[in-house]
Amino acid sequence: NIVYLNGSWVAAEDAKVSVFDRGFLFADGIYEVVTVYSGRPFLLDEHLQRLQRSLKALHLQHALDLDYRQLIAQLIERNQVDNGLVYIQVTRGAEAQRSHLPQTEMTTPTIFATVSPLTPHWDTPEPVRVCLLEDIRWLRCDIKSISLLGNIMLKQEAANRGGAEAILHRNGSITEGTSANYFAVRDGKLWTAPADHLILPGITRIWTIELARQCGIEVIEQAFTVNDLDTLDELFLTSSSREIQPVAQIDDKIIAAGRVGPITQRLIEAFHDSKR
Ligand code: PDD
Repeated sequence: NIVYLNGSWVAAEDAKVSVFDRGFLFADGIYEVVTVYSGRPFLLDEHLQRLQRSLKALHLQHALDLDYRQLIAQLIERNQVDNGLVYIQVTRGAEAQRSHLPQTEMTTPTIFATVSPLTPHWDTPEPVRVCLLEDIRWLRCDIKSISLLGNIMLKQEAANRGGAEAILHRNGSITEGTSANYFAVRDGKLWTAPADHLILPGITRIWTIELARQCGIEVIEQAFTVNDLDTLDELFLTSSSREIQPVAQIDDKIIAAGRVGPITQRLIEAFHDSKR
């Protein structure tokens, strides 16, 4: 497993980062995850745009110049990956001592990238159970920050309740999952939360919206509410690693008779076809 760290290609076990790295001390950094299908990064332009947005949000100017396209190509090549997940993380870097205020001019960012194998969902994925939980995260969920404590606490809580994911609500509106966006189906239309500061603007979300429109399915970018949950016909999650993941159950409420609903199935097939 060859990883990239600050301009070098090294074996994963030889990649070392300072304990004074602001990523380690403050989670002061951002990340990006890109799927690789048949040796090619999927929706790369969109992922690189989001990476640039994240870097700009943190004023990580020094990290903007790197050729990430080339980096990802090399990562795939060196690791001989067919289907996989690329992980890129950029932190503000190491400083002489711990101080909340970044000493930006003196710091070089820490740039790390790795790739791991992934088994894509070629066929129908198994529908999962999710748990409805209050969204306790901060108000800049649109930044793909490595500071994921809220997400992790919620994922753990969902797991403790027997859920594969959580469906989060804030002030009565469903925002997203802990590491995925959601789509609700009602009366043949798709509903998903708007891409504002309360959710991560998922690349799979955007692609699903595009595919739905190609299939002639109307998409309403408006949050589903907790009160609406009783009226939904189908529900699925989207993320780079999960693609389109059908949901069979929210807590004890069964959805689409616990099966993959027809609209979800159509989009799974459209998604699969779009990978070629
Ligand atoms: N998670 N919302 C959150 C909070 C996420 O962490 C993710 C992705 C998504 C979906 O985004 P995309 O479709 O671009 O993958 C939505 C990644 C995969 C992760 O944390 O590993």
